Amino acid sequence: MEVHNVEMVMSAVRPSQYPTDNLPEIALIGRSNVGKSSLTNTLINRKAFARTSSQPGKTQTLNFYKVEDQVFFVDVPGYGYAKVSKSAREQFQVMIGEYLAKREVLKGVIQLVDARHAPSKEDIEMYQWLSSDEMGGLPVLVVATKADKIARGRWNKSESTIKKALQFKDQTTDFEIFSSETKYGKDIVWEWIEARMLD
Ligand code: GTP
Ligand code: MG
Repeated sequence: MEVHNVEMVMSAVRPSQYPTDNLPEIALIGRSNVGKSSLTNTLINRKAFARTSSQPGKTQTLNFYKVEDQVFFVDVPGYGYAKVSKSAREQFQVMIGEYLAKREVLKGVIQLVDARHAPSKEDIEMYQWLSSDEMGGLPVLVVATKADKIARGRWNKSESTIKKALQFKDQTTDFEIFSSETKYGKDIVWEWIEARMLD
């Protein structure tokens, strides 16, 4: 998609605050600092529309970005951030669970993992939950980001390590190596999103 127009529409912590536009939504989820906001900025051709930070745990609400009046990207607070309090973490879990499990216009989830490392326990738990029966076949694209930080010769190994740890069922699809630094993978991610918008 050629993106010209993006609005940061709203932040929400509860369902009554979600947009009522009835547009398809794509959620971005992953560990704090993995690069969700950077991926958003790359997809919409902006340097710093979605706030990025080297300080993890900055995003604490669901942030809805309306893209070309056609789709919302939903930046979900990063999980696994140890420095927030236990009660804050539990509140996040309720907020995220409520959104991902119940949102009718949610067409797909992009789960980001770090291309440099094996997925964490939380990455694995999130992926298993997202692909569980409870979610009713919600499409999930795993994006291994920060690929610019490893040599190209190690990308295949990184992909197989991640797929193995997450227990990927379908080995051929729904995975993409990505870099917000070089924009590698941007077109493939967009293609996946556009296909989900038509589902
Ligand atoms: P939270 O909002 O805290 O959950 O973090 P986030 O997942 O939105 O991460 P964010 O996009 O803010 O990126 C975190 C840090 O990683 C920033 O310093 C980014 O510049 C850096 N970063 C993100 N993506 C990439 C990438 O593909 N390559 C490199 N080299 N750095 C990246
Ligand atoms: Mg962020």
